[in-house]
Parts: sequence; structure tokens; C-alpha cells
Amino acid sequence: MTSTVFTGIAELVTNDEHLEGADQSEHLGRLRNAAVIVQDGLIAWVGPASRAPEADGRRDLGGRAVIPGFVDSHSHLVFAGDRSAEFAARMTGVRYDGAGIANSVWATRAASDDDLRALVGVRIEEMRGQGTTTVEIKSGYGLNVDDEARSLRIAAEFTSETTFLGAHVVPPEYVDRRAEYVDLVTGEMLSACAPHARWIDVFCEPRSPHAFTEDEARVVLSAGRDAGLGLRVHGNQLGPGPGVRLAVEMGAASVDHCTFLSEADIEALAAASDTTVATLLPGAEFSTRSRYPDARRLFDAGVSIALATDCNPGTCYSSSIPFVLALAVREMGLTPAEALRAATVGSAKSLRRNDIGVVRPGNRADLAVLDAPSYLHLSYRPGVPIASTLEERGRHGS
Ligand code: NIG
Ligand code: FE
Repeated sequence: MTSTVFTGIAELVTNDEHLEGADQSEHLGRLRNAAVIVQDGLIAWVGPASRAPEADGRRDLGGRAVIPGFVDSHSHLVFAGDRSAEFAARMTGVRYDGAGIANSVWATRAASDDDLRALVGVRIEEMRGQGTTTVEIKSGYGLNVDDEARSLRIAAEFTSETTFLGAHVVPPEYVDRRAEYVDLVTGEMLSACAPHARWIDVFCEPRSPHAFTEDEARVVLSAGRDAGLGLRVHGNQLGPGPGVRLAVEMGAASVDHCTFLSEADIEALAAASDTTVATLLPGAEFSTRSRYPDARRLFDAGVSIALATDCNPGTCYSSSIPFVLALAVREMGLTPAEALRAATVGSAKSLRRNDIGVVRPGNRADLAVLDAPSYLHLSYRPGVPIASTLEERGRHGS
């Protein structure tokens, strides 16, 4: 049992709304000149540096800000191949409809386990280098029994937050046999994947000929629930649709994208705010030249909001939560504090986790350090690599 006291913290954002003596404006639970004691990977003590108890070791962070590590609650990291040409085409006006997913499927099926593992490892390192301490990873580029199960086995080597997305699109070989593909996903594929997954997800988007209708999505989610998986939904990304309604109806933990919402969708999400989180993915709007959802409106209506990258080869090949925060503030009307909470305690809620996202004794010591005196610099200095995990920082000196 060794403990370390971290000092030299100019500003500590805890997200702890009950922390004594903290500045609670915008619910950040902020302390100036703070110290944190970490023991065995957990937070042991939080408070002003002047009152910090002794610990076995001591590290001075040199006047930096410390925040809860980012919780990236939506990513698709298990893929091979390159789709940058699709991005270039979209920038000249080509619309995204999910057709390109098949290109990643061919490349992923052809890759060896070691190659896929190495690709995921590099992407996770990128994330950690930008302050992310928890990542959810979906399958969805295998789309057959063996390659979906393999994708999840590899994802599980990196995170406990693994999501079975066999219902990403109907693969080309099933294009005239949709019902058969849904049977496969909910039968043999689910049986092979459920042991490696915590969640199930479905791309419910009637506007895309490749994705799933409301009825198909309901069948997929019901089967996943029966197999003991928690529910997540890709919904309302390409246009208004049934995804949000279905997610709320089925008690999903999260409905993601939420780009095109009706008044009824917003009301339903607000009423379900204890259960279903709206996960916004502005990197996807950026990379598909889409409009952005009105996060301000959702927040003011009482919807629970999370922010995540959606890191994937098609709609957003960025692993950067700081980039997402800058977009949320500049393009979606959130304050820097609301955006930071959404990407930490908000995304933790979307994973039904309360051991992360808030810096308080007993929680995991998942922290990010900023080369800046305040969390405001995250969106104030877009594109500048000021954030990294505490661990990563330790590796390169304080
Ligand atoms: O979340 N919309 C569905 N899935 C991904 C994109 C997948 C891809 O194009 O490779 C998303 O945007
Ligand atoms: Fe996604």
C-alpha cells in the first residue's frame, strides 16, 4: 500500500457537488491550491494543499489544473483500412449514408488479430495522451459471427466497456436477406459475442438503406437485453427518426448522436433523464458537414447530456475529447463547464458508472492534468495538446 500526495494543483475540478469549501459555480466542485492523495489506484483524500496529510510519496504538478479524466463513452476503435478519401469527398458535398462502413468491414476481416490489437493500442494511446481515462469500444466492422466475437475479445483487452454492434449495418452479402441478418445478429452472433460485451447497440436510422428500422432495432435490443446486456442506440443521426423514442421506451442507458430531434424527443429525453442519457458526438457533425444539435436547448430542457468522440474511420476519425469540448462550446452553445461535466460525469452516467467522473475519496484515481492554470483553457486553446492523463504525465516527468 503506497500513497502519493499530488500538490502544485492550481485548480482542481472535482465535479463533487458536496465538497466542503469548494467553489460550486456550475457544479464543478472547484478548489484552488489543492492536493489529492492517491492510494492503490483510488482517491484517498481531496482538499486544500495547506491541509494535506502526509503520504509515502509526493509529486508537485507545478501550478497546473487537474480535472477528472475524460470518459469517452462512444468509440469504434476496432477497425483496419483507410477511408480518408470518403472524408475528402464529403468536404466537396457528398452526403454520408453509412455505405462506407462496408469498406472498413472488408479491411477488418482481412486483418490479423495482432494487427487489429496494435491498431486499437495506438488509438488508445492517442486518447490517453489527450486526457481520456475510460473508453467504451464497439464492435461493428466484423459483421459475421467470428469477426464480431474477435473484435470484442480484442476490445476487452483494453476496456471493460465493450459494446456488441453486430447491428451496425446489414453487410452487403445479406442485402436482400435483411430478416436473415437480424436473425443471425440476435441468435448465433449474440451468443458468441455476449460473453465479451457489457452493452448492445444498434444503428437505428430508417433514412439509411444500410442501417436498421425501428422494428428491427427493437428486436435486436430485446434480444440483447434477454442476454443480459445493457442497451445503447445510435439514433437520429441522419434525420428525424424513431431512435430516441425507442431508446427511451426501452430504458436504454444512452442514445447517441441526437442530431435531429423533435420537440417530442426532447420532452421524452427530459422525462427519462434519470435513465437515458443523450450522448452528443459533435466530431461526427464536423466530419460529415452536418448541422450540430442544439445542446443548449437540451440542457435547459433538463436532458442528461454526455459528450464523446465517436472515434471511427467514417464519420469522425478523431480521438480527441478536447476537440469535442471546443466544438460543444463554440457550435452547440454549452458553457466550458457544462461541456467538461458532459465529457466526465455525464458520460460516466451514460455507462452507469459512479466510480469515475467525480474526484472524491473511494473513486478511481482517474485524473487528467492540463498544461494550463484552469479548465477553461480546454476550449480556449483548441488544437493545443495541453491535456494528458496523470499517468501519462508521470511517464514524461511532471
Ligand atoms: O457513429 N452511424 C453509425 N456508425 C458510425 C460511423 C461508422 C462508419 O462510417 O464507419 C457513427 O457515426
Ligand atoms: Fe458511433
